[in-house]
Amino acid sequence: MTIDSLIKNATVEFGLSNVVPYMSFLRRQESKKNIQLDSCLRRNDRSASISKNHIFSAIQKTKSVILKISEDSEELESEYNALKAFENLGAASVLAYSKNAIILERIESGNSLAEYFPNNEEASIDIVSEIIKKLRDAPRSSYIFTSIDQWLGLLDDQAFYESEDISDLIKKASVIKDELLSVKKPQILLHADLHHNNILKGFDGWKVIDPKGVIGEAEYDVGCFIRNPVSELSSHVDAINIIKNRISSLSEKLSYDPQRIANWCFVQAALSFLFARQDGVDTRGFRKLVEIFEEV
Ligand SMILES: Nc1ncnc2c1ncn2[C@@H]1O[C@H](COP(=O)(O)OP(=O)(O)O)[C@@H](O)[C@H]1O
Ligand SMILES: [Mg+2]
Repeated sequence: MTIDSLIKNATVEFGLSNVVPYMSFLRRQESKKNIQLDSCLRRNDRSASISKNHIFSAIQKTKSVILKISEDSEELESEYNALKAFENLGAASVLAYSKNAIILERIESGNSLAEYFPNNEEASIDIVSEIIKKLRDAPRSSYIFTSIDQWLGLLDDQAFYESEDISDLIKKASVIKDELLSVKKPQILLHADLHHNNILKGFDGWKVIDPKGVIGEAEYDVGCFIRNPVSELSSHVDAINIIKNRISSLSEKLSYDPQRIANWCFVQAALSFLFARQDGVDTRGFRKLVEIFEEV
């Protein structure tokens, strides 16, 4: 089915009006002072080329909503089930769902945690730790989520990355991954994509969007925040100290073992380098982060 017909179906099925691509919607809001348009647009322009998802603003009855259309219905099903599991624990509310479309409450301010980097670093660490404290209490869901072991399998596929000059580091990450997984820890539902642009400032507090929904140990979920925003952090002169501070602060606030966090960060940096390579995006920032995390 084409994107146009997916949009048309969702518009009819969910009774939507004023369906506008979210970027154009932001442009129209330009005059509103509280929208930091530059960073919103930069982030959306950047993700547009690689994302299988299409984001629209719309009106449902009298309510401002977000329509997310995904060509990957399995991924969207997992996102929907994770959002439901995280409902009332800080996730944006789901108003409706069907195979390729999801309707979410619109978080109105237009600001995300990305605006906190690098000048409000300590505040952003506090915000993320409070968010994680709520998310990690999600009740068990009857939906069967994927396990992180499956994602991490890419690190074992040496043929896939042997041409890379950092292949030794990726092999090392694969070994550390096996060590981490050999310790049996309680398995919980993870957000698994908790980076700055998926944490939005609502008028009634911070809300998370876009959970991948995978099962794994709690410590895994801090890694994504710690290595983001990838291009800004990897090119920051003080990157290593920012990262070290994030690891020690979060381990203290969440009572996680700092060495385990650091190991997960290294493993995930290698994995996200491989994902970026697979998606055909610029891998330089990702590569730099693998090297930085190896040092930490
Ligand atoms: N409920 C929402 N309220 C406000 N903005 C949103 C909402 N959902 C998505 N967005 C905006 O759209 C962007 C992309 O949405 P997201 O669900 O993260 O898609 P993707 O899976 O492509 O990353 C977000 O970073 C945010 O700027
Ligand atoms: Mg996102």
